Amino acid sequence: MERESWSSNLGFILASVGSAIGLGNIWRFGYMVYTNGGGAFLIPYIVALLCVGIPLMILEFAIGHYTKKSAPLALEKLHNGSEWAGWFAVISGFIITSYYVVIIAWCLYYLIILLIYGYPSDPNTYFFQNILQISSGVEDIGGVSYGILTSTLAVWGIIALILSAGVKNGLEKANKIMIPFLLFLVILLVLNALTLPGALTGIEWYLTPDFSALLDYNVWLSAFSQIFFSLSLGFGILIAYASYLPKKSDLTINAFTVSLLNCGFSFLAGFAVFGTLGYMSYTSGIPLDKVVSEGIGLAFVTFPKALSLLPFGSKIFGIVFFLALVFAGISSAVSIVEASVSAIMDKFSLSRKKALLYVLALFIIVSPIFTTGAGLYYLDIIDHFASGYLLPIAAILEIIIAIWLFGGDKLREHVNKLSEIKLGVWWKYLAGVISPIILTAVVLLDASNVLTSGYGGYKTTYVMLGALIIPLTFVVSIILQKMKTIKG
Ligand code: ALA
Repeated sequence: MERESWSSNLGFILASVGSAIGLGNIWRFGYMVYTNGGGAFLIPYIVALLCVGIPLMILEFAIGHYTKKSAPLALEKLHNGSEWAGWFAVISGFIITSYYVVIIAWCLYYLIILLIYGYPSDPNTYFFQNILQISSGVEDIGGVSYGILTSTLAVWGIIALILSAGVKNGLEKANKIMIPFLLFLVILLVLNALTLPGALTGIEWYLTPDFSALLDYNVWLSAFSQIFFSLSLGFGILIAYASYLPKKSDLTINAFTVSLLNCGFSFLAGFAVFGTLGYMSYTSGIPLDKVVSEGIGLAFVTFPKALSLLPFGSKIFGIVFFLALVFAGISSAVSIVEASVSAIMDKFSLSRKKALLYVLALFIIVSPIFTTGAGLYYLDIIDHFASGYLLPIAAILEIIIAIWLFGGDKLREHVNKLSEIKLGVWWKYLAGVISPIILTAVVLLDASNVLTSGYGGYKTTYVMLGALIIPLTFVVSIILQKMKTIKG
């Protein structure tokens, strides 16, 4: 079977940017800056981007381009017996997508409710009780929220449609439409935010540096985790995407372009978030530090409330906000699913349609768990271990295999033959030594926090059950490696 390819380098860049820019760029980045020293957070953020983000993106591009395979067979090609490490990345992505898609479904559902009925009078009760139908705790699974289940299936339908059309006609075309449109939507939100009274106070909160925060190692760890997840590293996505590149492709410039566009986008979105929150504080009289809430609360409670207070166009800007979240989410979700689809196509010599069918069938079994009353608790616990442990472990494995066992210099040579900006030995040390040390620190420090203080106030049994996904991912990866590879 001939390998599919992008029709142009721009198509590859937009698809990779689409993968990187996700739900986290719109709500998580702003919140991170805000809670980790304001403008001062940008210092560790930029350090993380330069020392870990860009070097690892170059590494994943190099692995995919050099081997022309998706993660499992790519790592196997670099070093015999390493296929399981690629599956580890793919399964980590699989676990994350199973709930990531449900979050996109919340956005889609909210968007539809907004279009039909307008803003709810009490967004907090409305979101948690009416939409999520949240149960009393982890042990109480509750009922299925049929609205969310239906919109989850709709999101899966959209993802299936995009991926079934292939790399050029599906992924590339969809991102060529979604990414410029997403940028347009976010610019609208920023421009609107900047014109509102009180906006400047919000933006001042966002950008004023508190340099003492730099002495807190947690701020640094947050910056590294944010960069890592945001650039879609450790999922095996970028390896698969780079495997579809033509022979002559400038890998270094591509990595710089994708990373900088992703981070620039986050920075821009922060103005919309904090400008609007500043306005909310101004109109409601609630101090700014009381209106800001984290992640889910920010997007589904605080932001709808703030937008509903707009003097004009409140419904339109609500629609723009949720549409932006849906686009950002889908362009990332398709990339994570593609990592699984291309891995299965490569391993079992299956057609795209068949591989997609198998992968979707698995997702359709797993995803509905997160649409139950306890779905938000499951999501919270599993996300902690999937994003916080599985992805960094997947990247550490990738680094050991590609740089230490196969040879960082061989990959560097490959990249340098094709790229205008030449990589010096510094790259090998950043990607091969500094990055794994930092990723190990991120994992170990969190593990020691969980062991001493638990996580999120949940009972230890539930936290331990969540942590089980780590050994489980190892076992399934090894089983997949043991299965016979079918040569096409
Ligand atoms: N990079 C994607 C995001 O930020 C996964 O949501």
